Amino acid sequence: MPSHLQSWYAHRDQPDVVLVDGFHAVKHALRFGADVLAVLATDKPAAMALAHELAPDLAGAFEILAASVEPAVFADLVPRPHPTGVAALALRPSLDLAALAGRDSPVVLLEDPRHLGNIGAVVRLAAGFGVAGVLTTGVTDPWHPAALRGSAGLHFATAVARIDLGTRPAGPVYVLDPDGADIRDLTFPDDAVLAFGTERHGVSAELRAMATQLVAIPMRPGVSSFNLATSVAMALFHWTTRDRQRMVDSA
Ligand SMILES: C[S@@+](CC[C@H](N)C(=O)[O-])C[C@H]1O[C@@H](n2cnc3c(N)ncnc32)[C@H](O)[C@@H]1O
Repeated sequence: MPSHLQSWYAHRDQPDVVLVDGFHAVKHALRFGADVLAVLATDKPAAMALAHELAPDLAGAFEILAASVEPAVFADLVPRPHPTGVAALALRPSLDLAALAGRDSPVVLLEDPRHLGNIGAVVRLAAGFGVAGVLTTGVTDPWHPAALRGSAGLHFATAVARIDLGTRPAGPVYVLDPDGADIRDLTFPDDAVLAFGTERHGVSAELRAMATQLVAIPMRPGVSSFNLATSVAMALFHWTTRDRQRMVDSA
């Protein structure tokens, strides 16, 4: 067996190893410093062309790391092969709670999210807005390959981990809920914990009890709620407007 496949088999079932599926996910993993253990490509010249076009900063890394593999073998190794025919194995970083204690940007806390697409979308938002991390409670692993695919590999650009509500990082807890105070009337501090309820049942009594403030995103009457990831997007965008709000408040 070729050495790159030996390496894949040796690593893939280790608990701290995650599957990074698709060219863009592998690109972001490499760019944001993931410990990438193996990269496979069904068509290495095509993968190299993508790298030169979309990630010239990483073309050298792709050239060194990517090993060619037959499509049939790839399909056996990767459950839902991405159309780009590129996948990698990488080490999943462990959560550094101490680093979050001194943060200068919010943490997003998702209570028991179930939809892997939502988790991926939220991680992508958190990475894009440059916030400190995405923490989840409940049974779903936020590093599931489908969530990682949904974030386009941006799990490596922010902290992502599952925690218990009781071990959440310090900071005022703003719980997003349609019954809260209008988001347009407040400014999120940089050390906020922005917390969101479950897709099906909303905010639990336990999370509600932790709230420094309940915060609502305005909706047209008759609409009961926004999608979870959409709500996170609006809350994080609101956080980015803080400097303008402060300028208006102090004028
Ligand atoms: C899909 S919603 C939950 C819907 C759930 N059926 C309920 O009754 O609340 C998921 C989460 O998104 C956030 N959310 C959705 N719409 C919101 C709004 N208009 N204002 C504040 N948060 C909202 C809340 O944190 C909510 O728990």
